[in-house]
Amino acid sequence: MNLLRSLFISLSSNYGLRSFAESSSVGRKLSSRFVAGMTIEDALQAAARVNREGIAATLDSLGESVNDAEHAQASADIYHQLIDQIAARGLNANVSVKLTQVGMDLDPELAESIVSGMVSHAERSGSFVRIDMEGSPYTEATIAMTERLHARWPGCVGTVLQAYLRRTAADARRLVGQGIRIRLCKGAYKEPAEIAFPEKKDVDQNYCELMLYLATSGVFCGMATHDEVIVGRMRRFVEETRLEKSKFEFQMLYGVRRDLQRKLAKDGYGVRVYIPFGPEWYPYFMRRLAERPANVLFLVKNFLKN
Ligand code: FDA
Repeated sequence: MNLLRSLFISLSSNYGLRSFAESSSVGRKLSSRFVAGMTIEDALQAAARVNREGIAATLDSLGESVNDAEHAQASADIYHQLIDQIAARGLNANVSVKLTQVGMDLDPELAESIVSGMVSHAERSGSFVRIDMEGSPYTEATIAMTERLHARWPGCVGTVLQAYLRRTAADARRLVGQGIRIRLCKGAYKEPAEIAFPEKKDVDQNYCELMLYLATSGVFCGMATHDEVIVGRMRRFVEETRLEKSKFEFQMLYGVRRDLQRKLAKDGYGVRVYIPFGPEWYPYFMRRLAERPANVLFLVKNFLKN
């Protein structure tokens, strides 16, 4: 399984395969299980659909590793349109963005000025910007930028911490101390054992400890996982300690465990679905296959059926 995971993660950065897949109609059809569509309108409609089921959304215009200023600004324009449309349509939604998508590799100051524009727009619209977490070369820079943005627009920006990283417990205390909202996930990149737990059981244990810490921290955090054992652990904790359900939310990915998303919402838990969209879907899609290689069979079966 680990071999397949590594294979999909390395394929996720293969440029040849990426441009072939993104321009092929078969590729688009396969990706539609995890990607809401190619346009802003597709994403907004998907958000309205999940909202009707009592589920909130966060919208992600797919794209990463952008290396020219024009492209970075074009990515930002999409986010400004999203923030306006979320407000205009009264959606229960916010946005998630990756720093490499707004020029972090080219010029970190450019990326910060672009994200500043987004966060100040979100503040005016009563919305929120989540800065996704990428591979470990970006961890410290992402956290530090979130701190600076939070100092200027408190409560309008947050980031993501990954339970597979050994540094995360310290980062969680650091961000909670400033009142910064955290999305906790396990982590989707390939990291060396010196900085990340190589064994899944250690990642899961760290996730649980961090989750309980965040849930009782007084800062509203998102528990991003589809792991039913971990979700069950959180539910038991809520029942045993009578923690108010409004103190945190569960977060899951579009197209993954829709049954569990609906069940949690029905049981009165806050649930937010991460809705990715746009033509640059390939790296995101490959990371989803890496998490669960059985998805390949599932997708092919569905493809042949339709
Ligand atoms: P795990 O991988 O242990 O899976 C547990 C169970 O969940 C599986 O047995 C299966 O049933 C189900 N499942 C998990 N993934 C599935 C899939 N792709 N298809 C079908 N079933 C699946 N990562 C990151 O590094 N930076 C980030 O910013 C984010 N952001 C983010 C937002 C949200 C809302 C979520 C849910 C996840 C992320 N992630 C992320 C991804 C995260 O790090 C992780 O890779 C995935 O969530 C998979 O881990 P799980 O916690 O779901 O458990």
